[in-house]
Amino acid sequence: MERTELPIAVFDSGLGGISVLRALVQCLPGEDFLYFGDSANAPYGVRPAEEVRRLTQDVIGRLYDRGIKAAVIACNTATSAAIGPLRAAFPDIPVIEPALKPAVAHHRRVLVLATPLTLREEKFAALMQQCAGCAEITPLPCPELVEFVERGELDSPALTAYLARQLGPYAGRVDAAVLGCTHFPFARRAIRAALGGAAALYDGSDGTARETLRQVVRRGCVRGGSRGIVTLENSRTSELPLSRRLLALPRED
Ligand code: DGL
Repeated sequence: MERTELPIAVFDSGLGGISVLRALVQCLPGEDFLYFGDSANAPYGVRPAEEVRRLTQDVIGRLYDRGIKAAVIACNTATSAAIGPLRAAFPDIPVIEPALKPAVAHHRRVLVLATPLTLREEKFAALMQQCAGCAEITPLPCPELVEFVERGELDSPALTAYLARQLGPYAGRVDAAVLGCTHFPFARRAIRAALGGAAALYDGSDGTARETLRQVVRRGCVRGGSRGIVTLENSRTSELPLSRRLLALPRED
């Protein structure tokens, strides 16, 4: 098969990367996408970095062996832990990062919600340092939120209670929140409500989609023509119905 015709792989620790896949489909409608979620091993964000690095490298290696023209690491946690060795093996790999720069460009008090692993890795420390002069930044690990989304609980009373406990203390005290984990945009409405409705929410999916488009254009392998095909795969096959449901959800502001 010609390179142009090959799919773009999208990888996440589980279902969260489907929030990025929706942006990719919107930005590159002619492309075929092969989404792989590793729900059997999720959550990644509470594992040691070395383990996340190994899991990520294994999946990306297998995806390249199947024939893909690019792989998008649509997982902040996997990116934080594995980007060094991945870049060495696959130079142009598009990665996601917490959308901290656009948030601090417009707001003074910024809350960053992400997994514990993302927040303790060097990549985030460097990003924080770049942005620290522009705003007051508060990182907040929310590992349980990943599990709510993996269960498909996007607006349950238990989720509302959890977010009230986690985010209630920041309601009215922050101007913006960065959703620094791909799972979190699926709980956008509940997060906004817990923060009191006034905080602006930022996530990295559109930025990642634009970067993917730039790379596919730069390599001269844009697939023209009609609408592409999206294939959903998961290391836990019982997650496929929920994966389809999340992909079909409308994108919210
Ligand atoms: N989806 C991942 C992210 O963007 C992490 C979720 C997990 O802990 O597995 O950070």
